[in-house]
Amino acid sequence: MKPVEISKGVYSVGAIDWNIRDFHGYSTERGTSYNSFLIVDEKTVLIDTVKKGFEDQLIDNISQVIDPKKIDIMISNHTEMDHSGGLPRVMHAIGEQKPLYCSKMGFKNLSQHFRQQWNYHGVENGEELNIGSRNLTFLETRMLHWPDSMFTYCKEDGILFSSDAFGQHYAGFEMFDDAVGHTIMAHAKKYFANILMLYASKILKLVEQVQASQLQIKTICPDHGIIWRKDPGKIIDAYVKWSRQIPEKKAIVVYDTMWHSTEKMANAIAEGIYLEGVAVKPIHIRSSHRSEIMTEVQDACAIVVGSPTLNNGMFPTVADTLTYMKGLKPQNKIGAAFGSFGWSGESVKLVQAELEAMKFQIIEPGARIQYVPDDAGLASCVAFGKQIGQAVNSRNDE
Ligand code: FEO
Repeated sequence: MKPVEISKGVYSVGAIDWNIRDFHGYSTERGTSYNSFLIVDEKTVLIDTVKKGFEDQLIDNISQVIDPKKIDIMISNHTEMDHSGGLPRVMHAIGEQKPLYCSKMGFKNLSQHFRQQWNYHGVENGEELNIGSRNLTFLETRMLHWPDSMFTYCKEDGILFSSDAFGQHYAGFEMFDDAVGHTIMAHAKKYFANILMLYASKILKLVEQVQASQLQIKTICPDHGIIWRKDPGKIIDAYVKWSRQIPEKKAIVVYDTMWHSTEKMANAIAEGIYLEGVAVKPIHIRSSHRSEIMTEVQDACAIVVGSPTLNNGMFPTVADTLTYMKGLKPQNKIGAAFGSFGWSGESVKLVQAELEAMKFQIIEPGARIQYVPDDAGLASCVAFGKQIGQAVNSRNDE
C-alpha cells in the first residue's frame, strides 16, 4: 500500500494487516489496518504509529513522502499497542529527542509501557499547536477507548484524527467511504458493539460537545479502516443511534446444546417469537463468534439465552458469551433463560442471574425441560417464545 494524500500535504501512511483474524478476542474476518497520518507543513507531524511488526510498511510509506528524519513532532492519540507498538522504531528513525505529544494520561501510560526517556509533552484538553499554516487542537476523549485517548483536530483542513472512534476492522485498497460504499457500516457497527458499547453514554456526551463546539468536520480519519470524507455525518449519526441503544423489534436466541435438546427448545422459542411478528435469529454459540453475537445484541430488544446443565453449572461456552456480553454493558434489553437438563438442572437459574445482573427485564419463569422435549414440551417453548415476542411488541408500542 502506498501513501495516499487525503488533503494537500496530509497523507495516510499506515499499514494494512490483511491476515489478522483474531484481534484480542474479536473476530476480524476482513483483517484490519493500523492508520497513521503524516502532515507536511513548516513543521512535519506524524500522528500515531502501527502495531509492532508493521513498522517497515510505515517507514517505507513515510519515506516515499519525506525523509523520516525531517519529522519534527510525533503525536500519540492513544497508547494501545496497535497504535503505539511502532513508537520505538519511529522515534529511533525520526530522532529520539523529537517532541512526543500525547494526553497527560498518555504520558503516564506510554512512560510505564515503554520505560523510555522520550521528550514527552503532555497536553491539556483544548490545547493548540501551531505547525506553520495549520493549528492542531488536542481534544481529550477519555475512555474512547482508553483513559489516555484523545483526538487531534486540524481546523484548516477540517480533519478530525479520531483514534479508535469511528473505526472499523477492515482491510482494503478502498481507503474512503465513497470507494467502499454502504457495506462498511456493518463493520463499523461490529466495531462499536465490541469495542465501544460500554462507553455509549460518554460517546453521546462527546458528540454533543463536538456539535456544540461547531467544529467544521469535513473528514474523519480513524486509526482503523476507511476514512470518512464523503459523508462524515453518516458515521456520527450512526454513533448517536448506537449510543442511545434504542432496540429494534428483534430478538436473538443464543444457545449451546449437548445432545440437541436445548437446540430443539431454542428453535421452538424462536418460532413463538416469530409468530408474534418479531424478527428473530437462533444463534448456536459454537457456530458464531462471540463478537458476531455481540453485533446482534447491539440492536436486539430481547436476548434469550439457553444452556444445558453440565456438572451442576451452565455450559462453559454460554458462560463465556455472558461474561463477554456483561462487560460491554448492553442497555434496555428484555432477557429470558431456558435449557434442558438431566437431573439437577441449575443452568436456567444461573443464566437468568447473569441476565438480571445486566439489568435486563426478565421474562419469568425461564423454560426448563428434563431430558428430551416431547410435543407438549415444545408447545410450551413456543408459548414461552410468544410471551417474549409480546413483551418486545409492548416495548415498541410504548
Ligand atoms: Fe485500536 Fe484501543 O486500539
